[in-house]
Amino acid sequence: MYKEITDVAAKVLSSEFGIKDTSIFWNTPRERGRGDLSTTVALELGKKLKKKPLEIAETLSKALAKSSLIEKAEAVAPGYVNITLTPTALLKELNRTREAQTAKVAKKNAKPVIVDYSSPNIAKPLGIHHILSTIIGQAVCNVQMHQGTPVVRWNYMGDWGTQFGKLAVAYKKWGSDKPVADYSIDELLSLYVKFHDAAEKDVSLEEQARAAFQLLEEGDATARAFWSDVVAVTKQSLKKIYDRLGVAFDVEIGESFYEDKMQSIVEEGKKKNVFMEGEKGALIAKFDEASGMPPAVIVKGDGSTLYHTRDLALVRHRIEEWHAEAIFYVVDVAQMLHFKQLFAIEAQLAWDLPKQEHIAFGRMRFADGSMSTRKGNILKLEEVLNEAVKRADAIIQERGDAIQSDDPKELAEMMGIGAIVYGILSQNRKMDMVFDWGKMLSFEGNSAPYLQYTHARTRSILRKAEMESCDLPEKIETLTEKERLLIGTLLRFSDVLQDALEQHMPHKIANYLYELCQDYNAFYTSEPILKAPEPERALRIALTSFTAGVLKTGATLLTLRVPDRM
Ligand code: ARG
Repeated sequence: MYKEITDVAAKVLSSEFGIKDTSIFWNTPRERGRGDLSTTVALELGKKLKKKPLEIAETLSKALAKSSLIEKAEAVAPGYVNITLTPTALLKELNRTREAQTAKVAKKNAKPVIVDYSSPNIAKPLGIHHILSTIIGQAVCNVQMHQGTPVVRWNYMGDWGTQFGKLAVAYKKWGSDKPVADYSIDELLSLYVKFHDAAEKDVSLEEQARAAFQLLEEGDATARAFWSDVVAVTKQSLKKIYDRLGVAFDVEIGESFYEDKMQSIVEEGKKKNVFMEGEKGALIAKFDEASGMPPAVIVKGDGSTLYHTRDLALVRHRIEEWHAEAIFYVVDVAQMLHFKQLFAIEAQLAWDLPKQEHIAFGRMRFADGSMSTRKGNILKLEEVLNEAVKRADAIIQERGDAIQSDDPKELAEMMGIGAIVYGILSQNRKMDMVFDWGKMLSFEGNSAPYLQYTHARTRSILRKAEMESCDLPEKIETLTEKERLLIGTLLRFSDVLQDALEQHMPHKIANYLYELCQDYNAFYTSEPILKAPEPERALRIALTSFTAGVLKTGATLLTLRVPDRM
């Protein structure tokens, strides 16, 4: 961006200071109203040129001020150069950002980035805590794809383990009056709970469960059929929730797939002296003292493999079969040690590794006690989603005519689900997050309804103007303060996307969209749009259409649906 202005600045640096090929970057000045662009290039060059940065900044501003694109250029201590562009130059820049609204096409044959997210342990319904990995992961994927990275969205389900043995025992004892394929996920959970209650009194049940799981491991046909029915039931119920959340996967390969792919890795580790004998006949991996990490168990004394072992096989598979460029794990910060150990073991095995990152997130707590769980029960995600939609519905009823919709039920779904999704994604994932009904469903402040309402407002204006979009006028003499601020914010969109991409921080997009809504609404309340004379009318309609487009694109990246009418 800002190519012409960068060229002018580069010329000055070269002619006045003999500096060639310096990169010049433009930011938005920190203080609003201090111009449209700011660069720190003078600060960076001060040392090299042994000159006061402010002097360099002054020379630079004087030369820049002569450009026909620039209305005003000023040097600001200790060495910033702040620029105010002419309206025409601003509009020209704005036109160029139109492409940030459409997804870039991924390079052909580029190696993919694998994003591992949601990845629940199945045979149980999703709990509220699952929403974090699920939607943060989806947003991370969406941003990557939008910016042209080929992505493999991977749900690495925990579809293997002793819980299947427990379920099999419980089913035989209490549930076999109907085929397991006809069970609902909640009924499966009840079976599971029943098993645990009974096992407290009858210790032999645990033994039976282990035996049942062993049958499954040995490939017993009945055990296998039972397992695959349970997996199918779970996947069906998962799909329902994923659809509501706007979450979708390319690959659903879970832990079970790696059952027969661990042995070779165990052998390799032994041969390379990475795995060694630990306590009670276990096989472990050790880490150097400085890391402070305890040893990781790879194979237990009884020969059973672990989460680590499977993850090693998973990485191998992703490298060899999927040719991963990078692997991102969107997983609770509670598993930090696990991933540190995993990456360390891979390095010890001297594998040729792609870039890997644990995209961790904090805990979520409820602002009020409204949704705390009864002891031992999980708080089901589906219940929370339904509650959100119910609350949204009540708000829509309450607001009466102030809300217009052709389909209030659909609007309630959009608003309720959106409130939760946006409520989470607008918070910094690295901190603990707060689940606050009041804030999430508010029409003011950084919330889904505020964003949705603002989007609907822009669409309503475009409807009244009878235009979907509108070209920016070629020439405009002056801009009002509110127009200028709105344009400045619109211009930042592509940088925000890039920033969110590099740091895997969806909340940067959310916070940006909030600012955009504020700027648009301030503009909307202070300037007439449809009743303005030309060329202001055309400009303001075009700014409205730009805002609508950016809001829609940004919201979609966050899986937030925005209505055209509200
Ligand atoms: N199923 C695991 C859990 O619920 C998360 C899996 C994360 N991905 C991975 N490759 N370890 O805790």
